[in-house]
Amino acid sequence: MRTAPSELCLDGLRDARERTLALVSDLTGAQLAVPMLEIINPILWEIGHAAYFAEFWTLRHLLGEPPIVPNADELYDSAKIPHDARWSLPLPDRAGTLEFMKTQLERVLERANVAARNPDAWYFYRLALHHEDMHDEALIYTRQTLGYRWPLPLCHREVSNDREPQASGAERSRGDLGDARVPAGTYRIGSTPNDGFVFDNEKWAHDVRLGAFEIARTPVTNAEYRAFIDDGGYRTHEFWSDEGWAWRLQANAEHPIYWQGGMRRHFDTLVPLRDNEPVAHVNYFEAQAYCRWAGRRLPTEAEWEVAAADAPIRGNLDGAYGDVCDVRLFGDAESRYGCRQMIGNVWEWTQSVFEPYPGFAPDPYKEYSEPWFGTHYVLRGGAWSTRSRLISTRWRNFYRPHRRDIITGFRTVKV
Ligand SMILES: [Fe+2]
Repeated sequence: MRTAPSELCLDGLRDARERTLALVSDLTGAQLAVPMLEIINPILWEIGHAAYFAEFWTLRHLLGEPPIVPNADELYDSAKIPHDARWSLPLPDRAGTLEFMKTQLERVLERANVAARNPDAWYFYRLALHHEDMHDEALIYTRQTLGYRWPLPLCHREVSNDREPQASGAERSRGDLGDARVPAGTYRIGSTPNDGFVFDNEKWAHDVRLGAFEIARTPVTNAEYRAFIDDGGYRTHEFWSDEGWAWRLQANAEHPIYWQGGMRRHFDTLVPLRDNEPVAHVNYFEAQAYCRWAGRRLPTEAEWEVAAADAPIRGNLDGAYGDVCDVRLFGDAESRYGCRQMIGNVWEWTQSVFEPYPGFAPDPYKEYSEPWFGTHYVLRGGAWSTRSRLISTRWRNFYRPHRRDIITGFRTVKV
């Protein structure tokens, strides 16, 4: 069976690369020399790695071609090169990195007709595309972490809060839309072979038994989260798990990382902290503590996925607006149960540890999921920075619980 070259999403590969380059092209040499932080990668390493990964799977693995750069595996293989060692590699300079990336993309596109003879080609082309999309999102986090400006063009801000009538009174301070009720039942979660490209951790669809639950129709807002802070949330041990409290003390956290009074740092500028925008850049411990204070809990990932049933892939996505938006927007893109913005705006923490689904077997990119089972927590739904071609209601993201550089909020479930 032959893959149609049109299925190799060549336009997607071009588009992803355009974004990768746009996310770094304005940076000065000093800005490229990033500090060694656990939560970021050296920028030239990261973009070279995205190109290397695409070359590895679509040219070397699929077609048996030799590497473009002879020592590429010693430079860019994320499974072999420990994080901190990435700062001391003999990497090519900016011009050399861009030259390698250009050669790689041209070759992948040129060879698409040959690759298309292999029925697995579409899978590896998609893998390369989604991988680059994920690194592009990581570059956005990196720019936020380091206080670099937002570099991409913005769509007309149709989600602008300025154009949205501000709610008042109770609606203003309470996530406003209340809870959606999901009945008890046996539900199917996970992906099926008909879902197109899927990662190994989504395989395969299986039944879960859930009790009835009521889940917030919107993510927790800044106003709701501020009430937690104002009530001494960050000073009250009983709201926090032991691990969470230890993190809070060590990080000396008093509020979400980018809050500064009534403002928040957004890339290199301070913007107003709006009541009805979702709280973002909070970690699992902060989400958990808020829930305990509010007498609520985080959803399990199965509950989240069921509550998201039929949610269209539409919302604050693709970096088009360059920021979070009001949690009440996109009311025409609700899930079957009436949950809003399950897709886009902010990633959402679930209470679930990242574990394999029944019958899990790793796909050829073995290091994608398996090394992280048991230590990471599942996030769902995508953020404003996530590509729409990547996200689905079944897509499982996963991070360590202390990470608050990610554009992550959460929604709560009634206890
Ligand atoms: Fe990677």
